[in-house]
Amino acid sequence: MPLERVVISLGGSILVPGEGDAEYLQTLASLLARLAGERMLFLVTGGGRPARSYIEVGRALGLDERALDEMGIVVTRLNARLLLQALGPKASPSVAESYEEAEEAGTRHPLVVMGGVRVSLTTDGVAAELAERLQASRIVNATSVDGVYTADPHRDSHATRIDRMSYEELAVIAGEPTGLAGPSMVFDPHAVRVVKRAAIPLIVVHGRDLASLEGAIVGGDFVGTSIGA
Ligand SMILES: Nc1ncnc2c1ncn2[C@@H]1O[C@H](COP(=O)(O)OP(=O)(O)OP(=O)(O)O)[C@@H](O)[C@H]1O
Ligand SMILES: [Mg+2]
Repeated sequence: MPLERVVISLGGSILVPGEGDAEYLQTLASLLARLAGERMLFLVTGGGRPARSYIEVGRALGLDERALDEMGIVVTRLNARLLLQALGPKASPSVAESYEEAEEAGTRHPLVVMGGVRVSLTTDGVAAELAERLQASRIVNATSVDGVYTADPHRDSHATRIDRMSYEELAVIAGEPTGLAGPSMVFDPHAVRVVKRAAIPLIVVHGRDLASLEGAIVGGDFVGTSIGA
């Protein structure tokens, strides 16, 4: 039987927020290396604060959204490279730059890391498109919030977490794509459309809650939100 494939969108917001990053990356890498092998893990790293700093300065300099996205992609690949250093020998040794490369690397290693692939596509979008291509069992979105809320919990103190919802409900919360580089949102609207058409279960957990991240990856218990049909 072929191994189960799980795609994980690792938000830059949890990889490099500037708080205990090295310690976290080391612990995260040990967890992922332990879980890979029994299943295949495809990791897609986001850009986080570093990407948004470059995008902000570039935008002030008058660069267009395309050029800003290109810079953002470089930062997501830099984050991928940083994580790769901590992952050890189970991981494919270089950052995949396309879905073809990622799929090919997966034939030799149970752990594959990539960042962005093209302009106008967030790394949540990359995770969704890769999962569709690989017919992954599920996508785990590891981000800076412990699930999908009725509204942005960092802005609305009355927002409550929803444990289970449909793709349609998530599409309403995710809203419309902004068309701008470096958007901040719980899961990208384009990515929602892709997981819906591919009918791939999506789980949103706080990426720094490693017990929940593990539960989500292996199909066990977690604190977070389950999205499905
Ligand atoms: N309905 C919602 N439920 C949960 N979080 C929400 C919601 N709406 C907006 N958010 C915000 O989305 C943020 C997570 O998205 P963000 O894009 O900032 O991080 P990321 O995707 O993990 O990292 P990156 O985009 O840098 O790779 C949360 O911290 C939260 O403030
Ligand atoms: Mg994001």
